[in-house]
Amino acid sequence: MTKVVCPGSFDPVTNGHLDIVERSARLFDEVVVAVLVNESKQGLFTIEERLELLSEATKHLPNVSTASFKGLLVDFCTANGVDAIVKGLRAVTDFDYELQMAQMNGSLTEVDTVFIPTSPEYSFLASSLVKEVAKHGGDVSGLIPDFVNTELTKKYELTKDA
Ligand code: PNS
Repeated sequence: MTKVVCPGSFDPVTNGHLDIVERSARLFDEVVVAVLVNESKQGLFTIEERLELLSEATKHLPNVSTASFKGLLVDFCTANGVDAIVKGLRAVTDFDYELQMAQMNGSLTEVDTVFIPTSPEYSFLASSLVKEVAKHGGDVSGLIPDFVNTELTKKYELTKDA
């Protein structure tokens, strides 16, 4: 049984994330999508909201579960019997930092990192850009699931009223 983790901020989950999670679910026995609780950075969605959106987006994948974690990813891996970390690589610009993190994580524990190339149609996609475009009324349908788009629109409607 190989158990892997797909870690990230997922603020919110995009179709690019789901591409990596779905392909991981085909490659490995068990996949945990783990949301980082970053106390020094306030996101648009709360951790609970991000987990709900992720659960909804992955409900068709029986070997995928969701979790949140604080602190080091390697500690989450040790505590949860995770064999490997899965990361999507969008472009070579991701590679430098991802390689550094993979090597740091590998030096802290035995956990290995597996890189999966993002499908080309999502190579430009990032939650931060989706939020930026949506905030200014741009069309992000096709980049995120429809129900995430609905929640994103609500967030910005609320911000406008405030
Ligand atoms: O979606 P993101 O924000 O690019 O995800 C980054 C994440 C959560 C994968 C990364 O910041 C992380 O692993 N954070 C946990 C803290 C940690 O273990 N830091 C040491 C990394 S070498």
